[in-house]
Amino acid sequence: MVQAWIYNEEDQSDQREAHHLTPDEPVPLPVLRSLGVLYWRIDPSGCAEDPHKGRLGDIRKQRHYKNHDIITVSPDKLPNYEEKIRSFFEEHLHEDEEIRFVLEGTGYFDVRSDRNQRWIRIAVESGDMVVLPAGLYHRFTLDTKNYIVAMRLFQDAPKWEAINRGDKAESTDARKQYLEFNTKVTAEEDAAKQVTSKKVESVNGESFTLQSGARSLANYPHMRAYGGLLYISGISSRRADNTHRGAEKQADGSFKLDAAEQTAAVLDNISVILGRVGASLRDLLDITVFLVDMSDYAAINDVYNSYFPNPAEGPTRTTVAVKQLPHPNLRIEMKCVARDPRGSK
Ligand SMILES: [Fe+2]
Repeated sequence: MVQAWIYNEEDQSDQREAHHLTPDEPVPLPVLRSLGVLYWRIDPSGCAEDPHKGRLGDIRKQRHYKNHDIITVSPDKLPNYEEKIRSFFEEHLHEDEEIRFVLEGTGYFDVRSDRNQRWIRIAVESGDMVVLPAGLYHRFTLDTKNYIVAMRLFQDAPKWEAINRGDKAESTDARKQYLEFNTKVTAEEDAAKQVTSKKVESVNGESFTLQSGARSLANYPHMRAYGGLLYISGISSRRADNTHRGAEKQADGSFKLDAAEQTAAVLDNISVILGRVGASLRDLLDITVFLVDMSDYAAINDVYNSYFPNPAEGPTRTTVAVKQLPHPNLRIEMKCVARDPRGSK
């Protein structure tokens, strides 16, 4: 499973060393997602021979990754090895996504957070598929094992043009679009932090109603605490202003609905609600997922798995398709129960 952490820039050792901070500062997958980095775990066996098989094939189809090649980076396979890996380690961006599926070996992708300019190091190993968005500054290095075999995927003809950090990179459309995306995500994160809630105690426990986030549309709280458990109402991707994440208005007035983005939004909203009592997604015990169309199942699972990478620690889950949700733009809603880290109330 992919591991990520803040890169220690003070550590002057070889780029192939892990460069952890002391103490280590791990970076969870949702943070990578908020930078636009996507991650999947896929069984790599047989993928080199049949590069359209199973899960890999599904993702390729979904994301229009028509072409690919396979590269081996190791001292005996790559001429001028030391020089080459130093050049991969130059901070750069691309005008297209960088898509890598690791078939064998290990390595590190470093991505630059535009929020605080820190490097986040992502360790990849066999079976990890990582997508870096166009316009995000990054770099790559092998680790001390000096060996990786990776499938590079492309939407169009294979090309690899790196634009090093500087004026040229800043003036690309890819960079401008990425910064626009980043500003939006940062604003969402800031808004989430400022959410306040009203707590009321009654015979059936404590109720929590968000005051500055999306309001309930009838007389129910967002969350109720009782007997050491937290019960959370059905949550959608609705924002405080009643628009929805994952439902973007098009020039013709119609809405482009994105079930994957809505899934991330729902989980982020649940996370904000749980935060009222100091709980997090890790405290979830059970989730019921409501979809209006089961054809979204694979797409929502990809996002879901990035929030809950380890089934042994994740909540139980049931997914059902329903005829409708309360707003036509909604593709998904979730209802859940969590443990209350404060104990029995
Ligand atoms: Fe790159």
